[in-house]
Parts: sequence; C-alpha cells; structure tokens
Amino acid sequence: MALKLQKLQRLSRSFLGLGSNYAKYATNKLSPASITSTTQPLSKKKEVSITFVRTSGERIKAKGKVGDNILDIVVNNDIDLDGYGACEGTLTCSTCHLIFPEDIYNSLPNKPTDEEVDMLDLAFELTDTSRLGCQIIMTEELDGIEVRVPSTINDARSS
Ligand code: FES
Repeated sequence: MALKLQKLQRLSRSFLGLGSNYAKYATNKLSPASITSTTQPLSKKKEVSITFVRTSGERIKAKGKVGDNILDIVVNNDIDLDGYGACEGTLTCSTCHLIFPEDIYNSLPNKPTDEEVDMLDLAFELTDTSRLGCQIIMTEELDGIEVRVPSTINDARSS
C-alpha cells in the first residue's frame, strides 16, 4: 500500500512538472539565470580575418574567431601552407613561423615565452618580428592583420 502511495505521489509530481527546473523557478527555488535555454548559442565570438602573404606575393585571406590561435585558423580554413603546424601547437617544431609587420608585432597581446624563443631560434628566415603562429591568440584588435609566410620551414623535430 505504501509503495502504491509513493508511486502515485511520484506520478503526480511528474504530471505537475515539480521535478523540472521550470517548476523550481516557478516556485521561486531557482533564479532565472539557472535556467539554460537550448535555443540560444552559449557565446557568439566575433569573427576576425587574417591575410597570409607568401614570398611569391600570393595573398591568402582567412577567417577565424576571437580566441582562435593562428594555427587554428590555418587548419580550420584548410590553408595549404606546406608543413605548417606539424607539432599541432605543442611548441616542438617551429613550422608555424610567421613574420609580422613591426607595429603589429609590438602590439601583440602576449610576449614570446622562453620556450617560443628557443623554438624560433631554429626557424628559417628568422627576423626581429618573427613569432610562432600557434602562440598568437586572435583578438578584436588583430582583426585584418597581414602576416608574411617564410619561403621555407624547419621542422625542429627532425633537426
Ligand atoms: S605548431 Fe609547432 S611550434 Fe607551433
């Protein structure tokens, strides 16, 4: 008998929706912020663009999102840069070497770590404004930048 009563109570709670977040909100047990809509995107990151300039002068424009690193953008846009990003951003190859205009280089949000500098030392055509693309996170301020792709790469893992 007690079992039947419990089952009946569970059924009536279910029927009234008392187990749902909406029911808790309706009875002031949850704030509106606790209810997550499944019809709205969780975040909408701003789109940014970047142009890769090969030594031949060919320009390749690509789009990404704020928060992507440049390696993400190369991969997501399926850009054919031979050998680029061989270590997948683990700072062991230097194939993602890019050359920035001086003003952009100086405005980059993060300075190179010792590990990045060590890896850059192994890159071909190193300049004073060289960075590893996998270490550069795109920000709104970097939208529209142009970067130079060296004529060749060095995969430090095979040195
Ligand atoms: S992808 Fe290898 S160091 Fe950047």
